[in-house]
Amino acid sequence: MAEVPGQFAGRDGDAGRDRAVRLPPRRFSFVGRTADLAEVAARLGRYRVVTLTGVGGVGKTALAIETAWTEVSAARAELACYVDLVPCRTEEQVVAALVEAVGIRGAEAAAGLDAVAEAVSGRRSLLVIDNCEHVLEPARRACGQLAGRAADLRVLATSRIPLDIEPECVWRVQPMAVPRRGRPSGCDGGGDAVPGPGRHGWGDGAGRAR
Ligand SMILES: Nc1ncnc2c1ncn2[C@@H]1O[C@H](COP(=O)(O)OP(=O)(O)OP(=O)(O)O)[C@@H](O)[C@H]1O
Ligand SMILES: [Mg+2]
Repeated sequence: MAEVPGQFAGRDGDAGRDRAVRLPPRRFSFVGRTADLAEVAARLGRYRVVTLTGVGGVGKTALAIETAWTEVSAARAELACYVDLVPCRTEEQVVAALVEAVGIRGAEAAAGLDAVAEAVSGRRSLLVIDNCEHVLEPARRACGQLAGRAADLRVLATSRIPLDIEPECVWRVQPMAVPRRGRPSGCDGGGDAVPGPGRHGWGDGAGRAR
């Protein structure tokens, strides 16, 4: 695999420098969402796939990127990669986007998801897959396959529609509360975690993180 060293320094300084970080730059403008950040991080410790859902513009992408940087800064992720599926229309394009996102180049790229699974295996990896609703079925399959094959991988997906795959924990991103008089500024709307549709809970450990 083509290893790509950390490209961006995180907001907290040098935390991401020596790790393989392929994330959009961290935004200094990110505000609030303290509870969401903590809850999503906790779920990433327990579930292989966490999906941020919510209406358009509610802040799924911003929360996903901030969460990923937090995971890197806290050394809970040694490899962190981001892919936006908006340009994708087909399964082949989804796989190609994932291949590129983890930094695979040249002949190895032909191995598709096999190469991605290998690239993210053997170290704590976090893959942010943004805007899955644009190509829901291919995104579902890719997330499911990767989560099933790479035990050290966590997938943080954003999608207006839950992926509805077995190891999924859905986190609903709520609109941020508008600060009111007498209430501290920076309050956030919080969220609620719900099991994947039709699932009989995660208590049996299936799909759970190790
Ligand atoms: N916590 C935040 N602090 C500052 N800006 C934010 C925050 N959350 C969202 N934003 C800003 O609000 C806008 C919409 O957020 P974002 O793109 O994350 O929404 P989204 O839910 O991913 O939308 P879509 O479903 O269209 O992809 C962006 O400009 C983003 O930078
Ligand atoms: Mg988005």
